[in-house]
Amino acid sequence: MSNNNEYSRPDHYTKKAKAQGFAARSVFKLEEIHQRHRIFQRGDAVIDLGCAPGSWSRYANQRTGEPLVGVDLVEVKSVPGTFLLGSVFDITPEALLAPLGRRADVILSDMAPLTTGDRFGDHVRQIELARRGLQLARQTGRPGATFVVKIFDGEDAPALLAELRAAFTSVKRLKPDATRDRSVEFFAIGLGLRQVEGL
Ligand SMILES: C[S@@+](CC[C@H](N)C(=O)[O-])C[C@H]1O[C@@H](n2cnc3c(N)ncnc32)[C@H](O)[C@@H]1O
Repeated sequence: MSNNNEYSRPDHYTKKAKAQGFAARSVFKLEEIHQRHRIFQRGDAVIDLGCAPGSWSRYANQRTGEPLVGVDLVEVKSVPGTFLLGSVFDITPEALLAPLGRRADVILSDMAPLTTGDRFGDHVRQIELARRGLQLARQTGRPGATFVVKIFDGEDAPALLAELRAAFTSVKRLKPDATRDRSVEFFAIGLGLRQVEGL
């Protein structure tokens, strides 16, 4: 039986991810972000918010050579690091920082809710996740840290981008090639964290 649903059909990126040992095609989005903006250095401490099934975490570990800290509602297996099970709305900055032993150089947020088909509701819920990611980035990042965040475009995105511009020296936008054509998602890359909380 033919399957015309582009989200359930394994595509070029999904096959390539599996062949390279990554759990999800989303790894190629992070790879493109890194190739464009050189976000990872060897030795960097990384926090990955919404890290399951773990392809961003695995890629970050390969670039930094360091175990990282991740959090998700879903378990992550076979990636070097500490993976906390739970919601970002419940996790404390202290719980994320304890395994690292220092503030983070890079904070990643690829978080998205389970989409319902209600485009506006999905957008609002996704922006709440991205905004919580920004709050945790301020609370766990070192001065000058980098923050990569997925954003579902729509009515509430400009306000979030304004908050990002206030928090970082510079903010870049990117829609990676591996993002599906019809998707509303894009990524913001905050470079040079200046609104550091809790130091
Ligand atoms: C697109 S996936 C992340 C893929 C991951 N970057 C990778 O490459 O393997 C989005 C993730 O956000 C997580 N998520 C959604 N709401 C969350 C919440 N409140 N707290 C933590 N994680 C959440 C989901 O469970 C899901 O695993």
